Amino acid sequence: MLIRLNKYLAEQGIASRREADRMIADGQVSVNGKLVTEMGVKVDPANDEVKVSDKAISDKKENAIYIMLNKPEGYVSSVKRTRFEKDLVTDLIDIKERIFPVGRLDKDTTGLLILTNDGTLTFKLTHPSSESEKEYEAIVNGLVRKGAIEKLEKGVKLKGEKTKPTKVKKIGDRVLSIVLTEGKNRQVRRICQKVGLEVFKLKRVRVKKLVLGKLPLGKWRYLTDEEVEQLKK
Ligand code: URA
Repeated sequence: MLIRLNKYLAEQGIASRREADRMIADGQVSVNGKLVTEMGVKVDPANDEVKVSDKAISDKKENAIYIMLNKPEGYVSSVKRTRFEKDLVTDLIDIKERIFPVGRLDKDTTGLLILTNDGTLTFKLTHPSSESEKEYEAIVNGLVRKGAIEKLEKGVKLKGEKTKPTKVKKIGDRVLSIVLTEGKNRQVRRICQKVGLEVFKLKRVRVKKLVLGKLPLGKWRYLTDEEVEQLKK
């Protein structure tokens, strides 16, 4: 069945039809590897591969898989093994379907990592405009002063660019809860460093409303339908 590309992108929850038109005109959308910039192009979702900003939009609703893993340290959030990165997060999940991590946690970060084969959800959660909340618990090396928390909350400059304001709470002597709505490389560690704090343990405990809870380190479970719906909202 053929469907207009802007309608398809809207139905997949990527953008409104008007925004989809703009994304197409801006050269962000490709079909079967070819950039599409003209309006009115139709696609067959069952057979065509549509990508937005190089990320595949899949139409896999029927056999979509959604998993949460409590990632241990030492595992890489990637599906590509290299000589230096031998232990992948997918090694911890013994299912036959191909899944990939939604975004990244650093090798030395633990906690909540979502894995799926749903490209649309991945796109939505990782796109810079998504502003999905991600909550981290950071154990830091020094005493946390009020001034440091205030600076973190306002946002600090990383490579000349100001980070978005964050919610920060002291939840233990040397433990901070930090809620980010963006995902710059090693952001928690870098913003903490900017205010004189070194993070030596970092754990993600929440993505939007999805909480890690008591899932043991290194273990995984399927998300419930309700949890998946919440993530898609
Ligand atoms: N911020 C970091 O510094 N590391 C992560 O893994 C995630 C957020």
